[in-house]
Amino acid sequence: MSDTYVGSIDQGTTGTRFMVFDHSGQVVANAYEQHEQIYPEPGWVEHDPVEIWENTKSVVTEGLDAAGLDATQLEALGITNQRETTVVWDAASGKPVHNALVWQDRRTTDRVEELEANGDIEEIREKTGLEADAYFSATKTEWILDNAQPLKLQTSRTQDLRDRAREGELLMGTIDAWLIYNLTGNHVTDVSNASRTMLYNIRELEWDDDLLAEFDVPAEMLPEVRPSSDEDLYGHTDPDGFLGAEVPVAGALGDQQAALFGQTCFDEGDAKNTYGTGSFYLMNTGNEAVESDHGLLTTIGFQRSGEPVQYALEGSIFVTGAAIEWLEDVDLINNAAQTAELARSAESTDGVYMVPAFTGLGAPHWDGRARGTIVGMTRGTEKKHIVRATLESIAYQTRDIAEAMEADSGVETTSLRVDGGAVKNNFLCQLQSDIIQTNIVRPEVDETTALGSAYAAGLAVGYWDDVDELRSNWQVDRQFEPDMDESKADKMYGRWDDAVERSLDWAQE
Ligand code: G3P
Repeated sequence: MSDTYVGSIDQGTTGTRFMVFDHSGQVVANAYEQHEQIYPEPGWVEHDPVEIWENTKSVVTEGLDAAGLDATQLEALGITNQRETTVVWDAASGKPVHNALVWQDRRTTDRVEELEANGDIEEIREKTGLEADAYFSATKTEWILDNAQPLKLQTSRTQDLRDRAREGELLMGTIDAWLIYNLTGNHVTDVSNASRTMLYNIRELEWDDDLLAEFDVPAEMLPEVRPSSDEDLYGHTDPDGFLGAEVPVAGALGDQQAALFGQTCFDEGDAKNTYGTGSFYLMNTGNEAVESDHGLLTTIGFQRSGEPVQYALEGSIFVTGAAIEWLEDVDLINNAAQTAELARSAESTDGVYMVPAFTGLGAPHWDGRARGTIVGMTRGTEKKHIVRATLESIAYQTRDIAEAMEADSGVETTSLRVDGGAVKNNFLCQLQSDIIQTNIVRPEVDETTALGSAYAAGLAVGYWDDVDELRSNWQVDRQFEPDMDESKADKMYGRWDDAVERSLDWAQE
């Protein structure tokens, strides 16, 4: 067992990571590359799917080379990905017909408002568990089919994209499907990713004909939906391809569900919050799709071969880590690590609140027209106050979700497992514990997203026997306990709502 491993491709919003894990869940190889963020217009965000695939190949090769590993030592490969981001490509050439529309892209907000006006929201929520929003893949796919320029050099008898899709000439997928297609030649996705398209019925577990008709998305272009950990395998890598080996591709999960899996939240009531570009707080609700009355999403957590689907409640916060990146972009800081030191140098924000609603607000507000705001500044406001207010905004947004989770599930949050890049910041973890007044538990391996998809793939091929083995791999790195009076935390949080109020419904178009 010692010289075989499981690999994971973690294709995120800002970059692509390849990691290799050993049997104890420790990282033995790690390579990362960023890709370009394309902003054609305010509120629009695109990625080049070809660049993503090229980067995927190079991080996998680089990661294996740097660790002195050979691809034949990989018993399986798992995929995890930024969710909702949508690609449409030509089946014959494998070329995308348009850049990918990224989950943060707001260009279809008008279309969502039309759905609201037509009274379609309730049906969408019932079938998909989602709050109708431009965030999901349905309106993005519709937009691409309506707007992508027909490719030159096609021999097809029609240039109409919908006709071509109906003929099976064009394929649609989220990033997992795009990568699996390029790796194996098969057009498949997993249930967790399908549940983020707003086209998939999470109760019937099938693409929904009414929703496909609403968005005029031909069923022929959709991937086959498979378990997240699939003993039947999605396919194998091509031994004549870039890896030079036939590796089974056996697991896929949207990145937030992968983190739930990597944090070994296998049981009802287990919850985690991942701090990446945004933050995504998920609670496993077992085999029941629990409906939210407090602005959370009902989504598919994961499914293992031969087992029923496990559902989750999710609080999707669009901007947390990206707010720190913004501080860097506007030269308030040189790097993310500086935020802790600067925030500590201010005892408080002196009344400043920052709402990083750069791409609208997700849970629990769901306002596509909200925009970022800073309120409460005086002539005495300094950089350190803005930096501290930005970190506090991450903690407040998470408390919004924790309160909604408690209200929906009736379960009090006594501790929360955290992961993602920002949890290296001890100041943020302590602040989070203070603001929610709960224990924050950081595991040893904080790259739980990649770990989760490796677990899904490794379980499918028998590299790991069962989930108990995975549970025993999970170790606490540090636990943060509340160190602030509850009354002070409540007072600080109390004004957050007022600040959010000022950011709502700002964008005109
Ligand atoms: O739903 C969007 C989410 O999957 C993006 O995650 O880690 O790429 O910011 P991340």
